[in-house]
Amino acid sequence: MIREILIWPDPVLKQPARSVERVDDGVRRLLDDMAETMYAADGVGLAAPQVGELVRCIVIDTSPKQEGQHLIHLVNPEIVLAEGVTTYTEGCLSIPGEAEEVERAARVVVRALDRSGKPFELDCDGLLNIAVQHEMDHLQGTLFVDHLSALKRELIRKRMKKLKAEKAAERAESVKKAPRHESAL
Ligand code: NI
Repeated sequence: MIREILIWPDPVLKQPARSVERVDDGVRRLLDDMAETMYAADGVGLAAPQVGELVRCIVIDTSPKQEGQHLIHLVNPEIVLAEGVTTYTEGCLSIPGEAEEVERAARVVVRALDRSGKPFELDCDGLLNIAVQHEMDHLQGTLFVDHLSALKRELIRKRMKKLKAEKAAERAESVKKAPRHESAL
C-alpha cells in the first residue's frame, strides 16, 4: 500500500524513532509499504518517520543510479564504522523539489536486521553510503536541511509552506468537484 509522505516542516519528522523489538509481519508489512511508496515517488531511500511511523526502519534502492545495487531493508541500523569526508547534492522525498550539498562520511559500515530479522553488516560506498547516512538521520529527527545554514533552511521552509498550502487548496478543490453521491453513507 502506498502511504502518504509527510512534508517538512512536520512535527513527526523532528521526533526520534524507537527501536523495533521483533521483526514480525507488522514490521514486514510496513517495510513493503515503504518500498512501494519509495518506488512510486521515484526515490532511492525512505525512512519510516516519513510515512508517520516512529520506528527504526529504512528502505533503500540505489539501483537506478548505482550498478550492482538492489532493494535493502534496514531495521534498527547502527553505524559501526565511519571514515573520511565527502559531499553530495542531496534531495529528500519530504522536501520535494529542493537539493543542497551536504557533507557526509565518505564510507560507512552499518549493522542492521534484515526483513527476516537476521543481523547483517553492509559496507557502503557511493550513493548507497550517502543514502544510508541520510535515512539514518531521519531516525533521529534530522533532515538534510538541518545540515544547512539557517538562512538556506528558512528559504526552503518558506517554499515548503507555500507548497503545502497549494496542495491543501488542490485537495479542497477536488473534493468540491467530486461527483455527488445519491446515497450518502
Ligand atoms: Ni529524506
